[in-house]
Amino acid sequence: MSKMVKLCTLEDLPERGARGFDPEQWGHDTVFVVRRGRFVYAYRDLCPHYGNTALPWRKDAYLDTKGEAIVCAAHGARFEIATGLCTSGPCLGKSLVQIPLRVSNGGDVLATLDTNNNGAESP
Ligand code: FES
Repeated sequence: MSKMVKLCTLEDLPERGARGFDPEQWGHDTVFVVRRGRFVYAYRDLCPHYGNTALPWRKDAYLDTKGEAIVCAAHGARFEIATGLCTSGPCLGKSLVQIPLRVSNGGDVLATLDTNNNGAESP
């Protein structure tokens, strides 16, 4: 089962940055969105290396210093912003769990969340 939730508006996102969200109210960010101008991408905040580790070392720190890749602070895995594919690090070739996202005509950033699965792998 899935549900669509509004994460924010496009204006709430930095032009070339990332931001975490807690749409299921778990008390920590479980989803993050990366914006590249008019393009936005959303992923579960779970690194495929261990499957249940959040990526950033502090709130919203999902990108490298140049803003060119998503990085995991734990062991340095790097992921393509547009695809979530790991291009270097211990989970090379694996991918972040992408979340369907769309921006409404009014600028609302809407994510479709799977309510049965948070994207984490079983231990
Ligand atoms: S948990 Fe992300 S690189 Fe190891």
